[in-house]
Amino acid sequence: MCGIMGYIGTRPAKQIIYSGLKQQEYRGYDSAGIALLDQSLSINKTKGDTASLNLQKLSDEATMGIGHTRWATHGEPSAANAHPHHFGDIVLVHNGIIENFEDLKAEIDTTKLKSQTDSEVLAALINLYFHSTKDLLQATQQALSRAKGTFGIITMSPKEPGALIAARRGSPVIIGVDDEQYYIASDPTALIDHTDRVVYLEDNQVAKLSKAGLEVYDLKMQVQSIAVEELEETERASKLEGFESYLEKEIYEQPTALTNTMRGRVSEDGSIVLGGPNLALEEMQAIKHILIIGCGTAYYAGFYAKYRLEEMLGIPVSVEHGSEFRYRYGAYDPEHTLAIFMSQSGETADTLASLHEAKRRRIMTMGIVNAVGSSLARDVDHGGIYLHVGVETSVASTKAFTAMVVALLMFGGFMANKLGQNQVLMRNLARELAMLPSEITSALELHKQIKKLAEELYDRHDWFFLGRGELYPVALEGALKLSEVAYAHAQAFPAGEMKHGPISLIDAKHVSVLLLPEDELLYEKGLSALQEIKARGGTVLTVSTRPKPSQSDYHVEVAHTGPHTDGLVMNACLQLLALEIAAKNKRNIDKPRNLAKSVTVE
Ligand code: F6R
Repeated sequence: MCGIMGYIGTRPAKQIIYSGLKQQEYRGYDSAGIALLDQSLSINKTKGDTASLNLQKLSDEATMGIGHTRWATHGEPSAANAHPHHFGDIVLVHNGIIENFEDLKAEIDTTKLKSQTDSEVLAALINLYFHSTKDLLQATQQALSRAKGTFGIITMSPKEPGALIAARRGSPVIIGVDDEQYYIASDPTALIDHTDRVVYLEDNQVAKLSKAGLEVYDLKMQVQSIAVEELEETERASKLEGFESYLEKEIYEQPTALTNTMRGRVSEDGSIVLGGPNLALEEMQAIKHILIIGCGTAYYAGFYAKYRLEEMLGIPVSVEHGSEFRYRYGAYDPEHTLAIFMSQSGETADTLASLHEAKRRRIMTMGIVNAVGSSLARDVDHGGIYLHVGVETSVASTKAFTAMVVALLMFGGFMANKLGQNQVLMRNLARELAMLPSEITSALELHKQIKKLAEELYDRHDWFFLGRGELYPVALEGALKLSEVAYAHAQAFPAGEMKHGPISLIDAKHVSVLLLPEDELLYEKGLSALQEIKARGGTVLTVSTRPKPSQSDYHVEVAHTGPHTDGLVMNACLQLLALEIAAKNKRNIDKPRNLAKSVTVE
């Protein structure tokens, strides 16, 4: 979380840094700040997003500076806790967490701290070393050798004008290179307007950027080689184009986005061609277990696909949260396990840490990622699948979820094809996938009906989302979406689990969203849950491929295509429901409170 931006060169830095921060605001938006350095230092910091900055207070001439857009970890969102932190001779922006900041306080003059942040302690420590070394690079490097935790930082000092120092451990830092100019950002989208030549800092590397050029060292001051790469096809931030929110726009983009995800990959005869996964036939044959790892919505996408992949491939598929796998024993046999890492941003700290842990355990790793060139995409061993759904700006993920499921289904079909498995099943999969974009378009035509439902239910605070089979992950995703954007209390359960406890919460104010499948047996079981809720006075909204059951209070009917994709079509209706309930409650739809798009801290 948090976005950092730096510039040193020949042009005025203010607008470059400001617009770089704007591009990265999805990473955190509770406070922001910019510091510019010329003859003197000018700093402006504010609570709120970058629009609240007072740019007039910043130098128009300065040709170097740093900026930050924050998602609070230590200390509330406030101007004092906003970055850049200026301590003594050091000015610093930091993305990440310094875990031992309390211990490090023993070495600095804590009476001079102006914030409650771990980052200012790091600035103070660098300041301490700066006084002994008189060298910003060495001071930064020495302080970072003492720091535990994660960082993507930039430092500068009025005592050493003409140099920016950047460093990384666990939080991305990308340096854009141009004639006599350098840009530093957390995300390549902030660089594309300036250059397509970049250097990706590796963990524990420190870079000095000055007129003398770019130098890169490790934390022991050993010189590192510099690989200037061409920026991959990074997407530009998108515009609202008439929609009221990015959430709505991205929900509506799904048919096109999915067409892009499947373009050139899925054929109607059931064959699926994927160029990204880098697995030899023998490696595929050795896979006896697939492990899918992700966080939040990405985890739910993996959970959905689990149901279908097990049927397609006849091998067990487990799904683990990134935040759990990294710390748990997990008895996975490395020779027979393929771990697939799911991430829209490709920068989620827990998912990345799990990837590194899986590699340490010598498990085969593959990625399903949207952000091209992101850390996850670069770090997997066996390639993967890019989603190609374009930039997702809304903090709540929508099109990436649908595309992740599709990517996993494609991968299942691809592997099944290679292993010569059930061709009829594969043809059905290809047929369903081909119809999915138009089925989602039809579901979006229910928007008006769902908006009306939202108008009736918007003030209900307690919600259950219930489903069986792959409709259970859809229920989980529906509950997550409603709670994160509308701030309603929503929980999901497998429909059959209700009677084991949660049913005690049902009362007249409680709404249950019940997802009913086409499958006869599971449909009947779902109807039993409906009866049980109605018998206790609850309100029920059913979403199904079948007509309205008589006892349900509200109903949304979607078309039936098949078991792989029906849940995704229902999910589009739940996305619209969350959107409309949030809108009716006047929530900040694209930037819900307390959240950030890319969760780069633990
Ligand atoms: C929910 C949401 C989050 C993300 C999660 C993982 O709408 O956006 O739950 O899905 O933080 O993010 P990525 O996919 O970037 O790893």
